[in-house]
Order: sequence, then C-alpha cells, then structure tokens
Amino acid sequence: MKKLFAVIGDPIAHSMSPAMHNDLFQTYGVDAHYQPLHVKRDSLKEALIGLKAIGIAGFNVTVPHKETIIPLLDKLDPLAEAIGAVNTVVNEDGEFVGYNTDGSGYLQGLLTQWPTIKGKNILIIGAGGAARAIYFTLAQAGVKRLDICNRTIQKAEELINDCPFHVPSAAIGKEEAEINLSDYHLLIQTTPMGMAPNIDSLPLSLHKLQTDALVSDIIYNPLETKILREARNKGAKIQNGLDMFVYQGALAFEKWTGIFPNIERMKNIVLNQLGG
Ligand code: ATR
Repeated sequence: MKKLFAVIGDPIAHSMSPAMHNDLFQTYGVDAHYQPLHVKRDSLKEALIGLKAIGIAGFNVTVPHKETIIPLLDKLDPLAEAIGAVNTVVNEDGEFVGYNTDGSGYLQGLLTQWPTIKGKNILIIGAGGAARAIYFTLAQAGVKRLDICNRTIQKAEELINDCPFHVPSAAIGKEEAEINLSDYHLLIQTTPMGMAPNIDSLPLSLHKLQTDALVSDIIYNPLETKILREARNKGAKIQNGLDMFVYQGALAFEKWTGIFPNIERMKNIVLNQLGG
C-alpha cells in the first residue's frame, strides 16, 4: 500500500516540500505520497492522534508547531531535545520519533562551500528557532568562536546559556557587531530581514566585512537578499538559503527511506517552483 508522508503547519499552502519529496519518491521508485496538511495552532494534538490512527509513515513540521510538538511525541532524538525543536518525525513501529535536520542540513550545505569550520570565527544574526538549530549544531561540531547578534540581546544570551555544547560566545547588539565585523570569517543571517516582500531590509551594515569572508543567508526567496548582494559587491563569498532547505529535506528523506537523494535534482525542483 502507498505510504503517506506530510508536512504540517500554518500557513502551509506555499510549502515547497511536497513538490520536492513527491519528485524524489517517483525518482527512487518509492510507493509513497507527500501531502501538505493545514494544521492550526490549537489543533496539533488532535491532528497527531489522527495521523497516528491512519498510520502516516513520517512528516515534516513547520511554523508554528516545531517547539509545541515536543511534549506530544513518543521519543525525541537528543539533538532535537537540546535544540528544543523538531522538523522531522518518523513513525517507528507506531511511535512518533522527533528529529531536527535544520541545523545538520545547514552544516552539510555550508561544508559544500567551505572545506572546514574548524578555527573559524562565526557571527549568527538573529536568535529565533533557525538560529538556535544552527548555533547548537555548530557548537557541537566545534568552531573557534560563535557570537550572536540580535535585536533583543537577552534572547541571544538565553540561547547561548541553553546550549549544552560549550564554545566561546558572546551575545552582542548590532552596533558592536558592525564595529567588530572584520573579526568574523562567516556571517549567518537568520532573521526575516530581506525576505520577500521586505527585500530592502538589511540586518546590519557590512562596512567592515572582510573581503574573503563568507556571508550566508538562510532565506531563499529572493535567492539573493540585500545582505548577499552587498557582500558580493564587496568581493565576499555568498551562499543563499537553498542549500539549507534542500539538505534539511534530504536528511528527512534519508530518515524515512534510507536513501540519501540527489541534491542537484532537489535544487532544480525548488528553483522551478520559485520561478513559477
Ligand atoms: P525563526 O524561528 O523562523 O528562526 P523567529 O523566531 O521569528 O524566526 O526569529 C526571528 C529572529 O529575527 C529573531 O531573532 C528576531 O529578533 P528578536 O529576538 O529581537 O525578536 C529577529 N528579527 C525579526 N524581525 C526583525 C527586525 N525587523 N529587526 C531585527 N531583528 C528582527
């Protein structure tokens, strides 16, 4: 019988995961279908009971359920537990097991651009859920320094204090980050600033950016945000959010099927969707 997979969230209509995963199921001959499911904030518990009753094989979790789903799951992967957010669930013999592939997806995408992260000074801009997954993953992987610049400094401090993996870190404001920008080898932009329709917003000035730095934005719509355009104009290397999106999906697909899929194929599907 055809296996069912899904993504649950609110809103969900514009998710690109269904096109990506349905193409992969077809490509790899997996008899399965991936369905977007609109689950409102207050209906999560009932939705999970229903999904279990119909024997769903696995699903992705997106805004606003990534954190609130945790107490409703049967088991939790230790990294997802530390991060406090789940984006992938696997039905393992009737038990819903939660994983987080956002941070590891980001790291795998980063390593395609950069041979190593060891010895690097990194600045994360923003302290929301995505920043948290990336911070915990990079802290666990081991980097030289991992600072967080956020509008609300207290939120960055909390994120750093919550992390079980030690790495030299500071929570800083925008002005301090701008003054010390030349200290960083990599900037990771995780706020919604620059995302469509707010394409003219810039989280900080790149005046002091090292010209050999890498600036990475987790946004993929538009593919080149204002911060990436400014970084490119300064001669820096840039990376958009397509890699993170595709790799988090590839890692979820691997957990469900045991197959690590073709990344270029996935990128083309997403680019087609964006173009359409
Ligand atoms: P996600 O969970 O998707 O990563 P989020 O939780 O909404 O996103 O977090 C967004 C991050 O972008 C937060 O760090 C937020 O800053 P605050 O902690 O001060 O709220 C930051 N952010 C969002 N809009 C911003 C803006 N207009 N200016 C500066 N920072 C902004």
